Amino acid sequence: MEKLRPGKGERLASSHTGRPCLPWSQLLLLGTLLSCGLGGSAQGPGEWTPWGSWTRCSSSCGQGVSVRSRRCIRFPGEELCWGDTHEYRLCQLPDCPPRAVPFRDLQCALYNGHPVLGTQKTYQWVPFHGAPNQCDLNCLAEGHAFYHSFGRVLDGTPCSPGLEGLCVAGRCLSAGCDGLLGSGAREDRCGHCGGTNDSCLFVQRVFRDAGTFAGYWNVTLIPEGARHLRVTHRSRNHLALMGGDGRYVLNGNWAVSPPGTYEAAGTRVVYTRAASGPEETLRAAGPTSHDLLLQVLLQEPNPGIEFEFWLPRELYGSFQAQVQALGRPARQPQPREVELPRAEPPAVPAAVPPRTLTPAPDPCEPCPDTRGRAHRLLHYCGSDFVFRAHILGRQHQAQETRYEVRVQLVYKNRSPLRTHEYVWAPGHCPCPPLAPHQEYLLAVQRLVSPDGTQDRLLLPRSGYARPWSPAEDSRVRLAARHCPV
Ligand SMILES: *[C@@H]1O[C@H](CO)[C@@H](O)[C@H](O)[C@H]1NC(C)=O
Ligand SMILES: *[C@@H]1O[C@H](CO)[C@@H](O)[C@H](O)[C@H]1NC(C)=O
Repeated sequence: MEKLRPGKGERLASSHTGRPCLPWSQLLLLGTLLSCGLGGSAQGPGEWTPWGSWTRCSSSCGQGVSVRSRRCIRFPGEELCWGDTHEYRLCQLPDCPPRAVPFRDLQCALYNGHPVLGTQKTYQWVPFHGAPNQCDLNCLAEGHAFYHSFGRVLDGTPCSPGLEGLCVAGRCLSAGCDGLLGSGAREDRCGHCGGTNDSCLFVQRVFRDAGTFAGYWNVTLIPEGARHLRVTHRSRNHLALMGGDGRYVLNGNWAVSPPGTYEAAGTRVVYTRAASGPEETLRAAGPTSHDLLLQVLLQEPNPGIEFEFWLPRELYGSFQAQVQALGRPARQPQPREVELPRAEPPAVPAAVPPRTLTPAPDPCEPCPDTRGRAHRLLHYCGSDFVFRAHILGRQHQAQETRYEVRVQLVYKNRSPLRTHEYVWAPGHCPCPPLAPHQEYLLAVQRLVSPDGTQDRLLLPRSGYARPWSPAEDSRVRLAARHCPV
C-alpha cells in the first residue's frame, strides 16, 4: 500500500504536556544565574487564572470528551506556570442507537466527493486503522490502494473501535478513576480513587483446621465491605458460599454447582474448577454488600484453603471477633454413639434421645417427583450402595436428618455393610422422605472422613428411595445390568 503523504508525524502541542516548555539551554542558563546569585529576575512561576467551565460533550451520544482551560498570567521575568492549560474529562451520554454511523466514519465521509490531493479526482473515504498514529484521521479511498491522513481526528473520537481510550489533541488517552482523561488516577485496593491502600487491611490466610468429618465446615466469614476476594485450594473438596440469609450461593445442600459467575452480596463471584486437576477458585471484586460465609464441603483431607480480601480498617476488629466466634463448626458434634467408625447403632431407637433432638418437625413442603427409569439408572450406577432397608427410626439434627436402618438385602456395595446402619440426608425435610417402619430401596453414597476413622452413608437430595415392592425390585435388578463398567 502506498501512502501519499508520508506522515509528518503530528506532534502534540506542548501547551498541555504538563511541563514548562523551557528548552534545556534556557534551564541551564537559569540555573547558572540562580547559582551565581544573579537570579534577581527569576521571580518564580506566574499564576493560573481559575479554570473556565467545561464545554459541552464532544459527542451527541455514547462517550465523548469535554474540556476546560485556564491561562497562565505572568509578568516579564516570571516562569511559566506549572501544570496543564487544558483538562479533559470523559462524558457519558446515553448509548448511541445501534446503527449510528461511528464518529470517525463521519469525519472521513466529510471528504467524500470533494477534490482533494491537489487534483480534481474525488473519492469515497472510510477509516483506515492500519496507520501508525491512531489519532490521525487516516482514511482509505474506497476501491483504491491508498490512504490519506487528514490531520488529527476530532477530540473524543475513539482511538480504535472496541477499545478504551479517546483521542484528545492527537493523543490517545484513557480516563482515570477521577474521570479525567490521561490523569492516570486509579482506584486503590480500598476503592479510593488515587488512594494509597492505607484505609483498608489485607487479610490473607490459609485455613487448615477442617475436622475429620465429611460435610460442611466453616472456613471464614467474608464481611460486608470486603474487596478483591480470592479463594483457592487444590483438592477434591468443594468451596461453598452462603449468603447472609442462610441460603447457599453455590455448592449448597450437597449438590455441586457448575463453574460460572454467581451474583452474591451485590458483587459477581466467579467460580472456576480447573479441567486439568482438582483445583477450585473463587474471585470477586466487591465490595460485598453484606456478610458471606465461606465453607468447604469436605470429601478428603483438607490440604489448605488460601483466601484473601481487603477490608476497611474500621471493620477489622469485628471481623476478628466474629471469626473467633465461628470456632469449631456447630454441626460437627455427633451424638456419642456415632463417633466410632460406623458404630453398630442399637437395633431399637435409643431410649434417651440425644440433646440435639429437635421437637416434632414443622410440616414439610411436598417433594418434587423424581420417579422414572433415568433417575433410577443414574442413582443406581452412581451410588456406592443399593440396598433394601427397613427404617427403624428418624432423628432431626442441626441441619440434617439421620435415619436408623436395618439392611435387609444388598444389591450393590463398594464396601461391606452392616445389618444396622445410619443413613444421613440433608435438611430437616429430606427429599425423598423416608417414613419409619417402612421398607425402601435406597441408593446411597459413602462419605469418608479425612482421617478414615468415620464414615457416613448419605442419601442425597432428590436421590433414589422408593418403597420396596417386587416390581421395584425387578426394575432395580434391570438397572444393574445397564451401568457402564
Ligand atoms: C495497593 O496494593 C496493590 C496490591 O498489593 C498494589 O499492586 C498497589 O501498587 C498498591 N497501591 C499503592 C498506591 O500502594
Ligand atoms: C458456621 O458459622 C455460622 C455463622 O456463625 C453458624 O451459624 C453455623 O452454625 C456454623 N456452621 C457450622 C457447620 O459450624
